[in-house]
Amino acid sequence: MQIAMFSTKSYDREFFDRVNADFGHDITYLESRLTGETSSLAEGADAVCAFVNDQVDGQVIADFDELGIKLVLLRSAGFNNVDLRAAHDRDITVARVPAYSPHAVAEHTLALILGLNRQTHRAYNRVRERNFSLEGLLGFDLHGKTVGIIGTGTIGTTFAQIMSGFGCDLLGFDPYPNDECRQRGVEYVELSELFSRSHIISLHCPMTPDTHHMIDADAIEQMRDGVMLINTSRGCIIDTRAVIEGLKSEKIGHLGLDVYEEEEDLFFEDLSERIIQDDVFARLLTFPNVLITGHQGFFTSEALTSIAETTLQNATAFKTGDGTLHEVTHQRVTDA
Ligand code: NAI
Repeated sequence: MQIAMFSTKSYDREFFDRVNADFGHDITYLESRLTGETSSLAEGADAVCAFVNDQVDGQVIADFDELGIKLVLLRSAGFNNVDLRAAHDRDITVARVPAYSPHAVAEHTLALILGLNRQTHRAYNRVRERNFSLEGLLGFDLHGKTVGIIGTGTIGTTFAQIMSGFGCDLLGFDPYPNDECRQRGVEYVELSELFSRSHIISLHCPMTPDTHHMIDADAIEQMRDGVMLINTSRGCIIDTRAVIEGLKSEKIGHLGLDVYEEEEDLFFEDLSERIIQDDVFARLLTFPNVLITGHQGFFTSEALTSIAETTLQNATAFKTGDGTLHEVTHQRVTDA
């Protein structure tokens, strides 16, 4: 298939080229982010490949329909950036990568927790300046602490496994509890109980209308004083302004983010020579107890290989009917 791939970086090209040697699709790598302004760059392609901050909204879907594009290949697990109903109405198939390496995101979650707790990023800078003072670097033992996991799917379950290895008590909240998590010691509770009992709360649920701003002022009020809050899922699950108030009042003791509500205008680019226009994000950067990474949870070589394999397999399955097509529709996720 002729595939127009948006938002590509050098690493996308490297991994897709390597994996595509076995598939033989014709990939055009585009650096532009997909929006209503850039959708026409896909002209001549059979399929479009999009990433997490590409906008596959109603207008873009209509543009694809006009261009005769009948397949959108998401090289991500999340699909909140796609208007699935519009795709359905125009008979455009949307496929995703349901699972690649849950370890990649779960382990990055741990990196944020350990980094925040033991402040290795701050210690690194101090030692480089020959400042060996420990003032302000006090951490706590993870052993014996209670970790609340919101969303115990593929990544949440892997994260539960990791945290049980640290000797943590595990609480879970998920509309669909799973036995594997229970076997790993996760006690399923109501959200309010998870909020009030957890020392660390980590988000692993998808962005849906139900989870949009799930962590708001009311939720934060229910949490333990000094709670550590980690979001490696999707930015909009957290009301960032409410979290900033929580940090200012010291209700929130640590905040670790790999995703941000308005990340489309920031992440994946080198903006070091530019002025950041987003005042909310700029405020987050001022807190000593906030650690932000730019949506890199997925960024391991194992995950990138798996993403390329499943994406190209989806293209082959759509064209030939061979193998599994990991389709998402507005009614259901066929392989969730
Ligand atoms: P999954 O589909 O296996 O699990 C999601 C779980 O969330 C399911 O068990 C589901 O029942 C649960 N859930 C749905 N609505 C909920 C609600 N209202 N409250 C609590 N739980 C709810 O997805 P997976 O693979 O574990 O990924 C989780 C999320 O991680 C993705 O949706 C995506 O947003 C994010 N992600 C982030 C990456 C990164 O680089 N930072 C990379 C990959 C995924």
